[in-house]
Amino acid sequence: MRTQVAIIGAGPAGLLLGALLHRAGIAAVIVEQRSPAYVLGRIRAGVLEQTTVALLEQAGVAERLHREGLRHDGIELAFDGRLHRIDFQALTGKHVTVYGQTEVTRDLMEARAAAGLPPVYEAQGVSLHDFDGTRPVVRYRKNGSLREIECDFIAGCDGFHGASRASVPAPALTTHEKVYPFGWLGVLADAPPARDELVYAQHARGFALCSQRSATRSRYYVQCALDDRVEQWSDARFWDELRRRLPEEVAQRVTVAPALEKSIAPLRSFVAEPMRFGRLFLAGDAAHIVPPTGAKGLNLAASDVGTLAQALHEFYADKRSAGIDAYSQRCLSRVWKAERFSWWFTSLMHRLPDQGEFGARLQQAELDYLVGSRAAAGALAENYVGLPLPPSSLRGDEQRELHHDASSATASA
Ligand code: APR
Ligand code: PHB
Repeated sequence: MRTQVAIIGAGPAGLLLGALLHRAGIAAVIVEQRSPAYVLGRIRAGVLEQTTVALLEQAGVAERLHREGLRHDGIELAFDGRLHRIDFQALTGKHVTVYGQTEVTRDLMEARAAAGLPPVYEAQGVSLHDFDGTRPVVRYRKNGSLREIECDFIAGCDGFHGASRASVPAPALTTHEKVYPFGWLGVLADAPPARDELVYAQHARGFALCSQRSATRSRYYVQCALDDRVEQWSDARFWDELRRRLPEEVAQRVTVAPALEKSIAPLRSFVAEPMRFGRLFLAGDAAHIVPPTGAKGLNLAASDVGTLAQALHEFYADKRSAGIDAYSQRCLSRVWKAERFSWWFTSLMHRLPDQGEFGARLQQAELDYLVGSRAAAGALAENYVGLPLPPSSLRGDEQRELHHDASSATASA
């Protein structure tokens, strides 16, 4: 088989890249190791920045998002038994949209199938070859037979444990990593959310988060020990611990219901540099991981592939390589700002095992400053709603519009 771009991974990054390339008339084949059901079974944060929504619109998959997505103009911080709202609209002129990542993935999968371009699912032993030349090749096994894709470019959208980054010669790659000394225990339940907006709670017993998927389905998290196992957390224990970490006015609004899904995830910050190796481009979790506190994972994956799609369009349409040559630097500039914000928000809101009394007092001081200073709250807000995309990721009209939004919001803040 021959195509222009071979995409490895049919998660949000791979599927969105495929959709953007299709709209640009660039042929791509997506190769995925798991089944569609397995991919859809992943429960992940769904807080979309406006720039992510704009990319999904550009990809032609935003109709249900606009119908079912929940617009949020702020979040609430909870500490010392009280709630403090961070007003995104007043501070930045922007908002976020709450729409589960599973639904983003479903919309992208359905669009790709409708275009007659379904990914190759359950591909085994995917391997990457000759991406340091001009005729890279992807090989994989399907139904027992070896298959080969000749292409111009390979997009490594295969996540943290994928084959793409692992195929890069070690001397060519620099990685940066921080593993946090705690995890998140998450529960999905068919229960109405406790508050209209997300609540991030800092408490001596540990962090808690009240999130949502719809008006009838909630997603909750509590910080837990790294060596905790799901079996140690009955539903009753989870609901009790969650409510102990929330202000009374929130705790009493939590509706207890059976856990539809319950899992523990570790927290990690990770960046691989650079994000391009010849004809291989890394995007999304294949290149970087953020702790979920700032809800940046999906948004960074979207901005990576928006930048890559624009660069490939310039290469094929204008015969210009400036975009693909600048890809890594453009993405890493935004990635590192999101890494910083996610680390900062995680360090502020969680009980750090080795923080001591001095560290606890610093957290208290920062929270007091945050809710007492428009400048401090504005810094949180503009990072949470998303910093501007690299200059090339959106069409000219969207760039001008977002720039206008950002400049007018700054003027009014
Ligand atoms: N061959 C083919 N496919 C692979 C391979 C491989 N060797 N290894 C992994 N994959 C597939 C996975 O099965 C998965 O479906 O690549 C896909 C990668 O998807 P994600 O891990 O979701 O990563 P990404 O698309 O970058 O999306 C990032 O997902 O994990 C969350 O928090 C993260 O919200 C962020 C988003
Ligand atoms: C979620 O809804 O799963 C979610 C929301 C916001 C976060 C993390 C997770 O910061």
